[in-house]
Amino acid sequence: MEKLTGLNKLKTAVFISGTGSNFKNLIKFSKIKTTPISINLVISNTHKAKGLKYADQIKIKKRIFNFKDIEDTEKKILILLKREKINFVCLAGFMKMLSRNFIKQFDGKIINIHPSLLPKYKGLNTHRRAILNKDKFAGCTVHYVTEKLDSGKIIMQKKIKITAKDNARSLAKKILAQEHKLYPAAIMKIFN
Ligand code: GAR
Repeated sequence: MEKLTGLNKLKTAVFISGTGSNFKNLIKFSKIKTTPISINLVISNTHKAKGLKYADQIKIKKRIFNFKDIEDTEKKILILLKREKINFVCLAGFMKMLSRNFIKQFDGKIINIHPSLLPKYKGLNTHRRAILNKDKFAGCTVHYVTEKLDSGKIIMQKKIKITAKDNARSLAKKILAQEHKLYPAAIMKIFN
């Protein structure tokens, strides 16, 4: 993709469902001089997402959609994204699947962060599964989004060691810290 500088930064929407630490971190990244993105919108599937409070604090536009009727919801989101001139989407702890039709409208412009070394451990409970399987390594992956769960082309991964002391909770904490480095690095990689 082309190098983005100055005014032509990519207008980005971040989709969240929970704590929003990656969202917060992406906001920080969007403020540095060399960043290719500006974050203009946050979308959540639930009012309960803690990350929304942060959006309020920093006055970023937020919208909540309940996804009960997926087709209708996606239609509304697409209208919103178009209206806001969004041309890049970062999923950050967003726990809903997006349809092939939705993804087609943003082909190659939706990325996700996942807390495992994909293709290992798609889906949920990645840390618990790595511990139960007595894996020696775990990590996180930034990848393009396709209609298949956690299956798009990998952009970047970070691998870390699982120690004898680790449990699912400690591993999640260690990996989340790595996610905060990996997501910005992966975005830089795409646009440089
Ligand atoms: C992160 O660990 C992210 O990788 C994971 O949810 C957490 C969200 O944390 N995402 C998935 O599992 C998506 N399949 P955050 O809300 O603090 O960014």
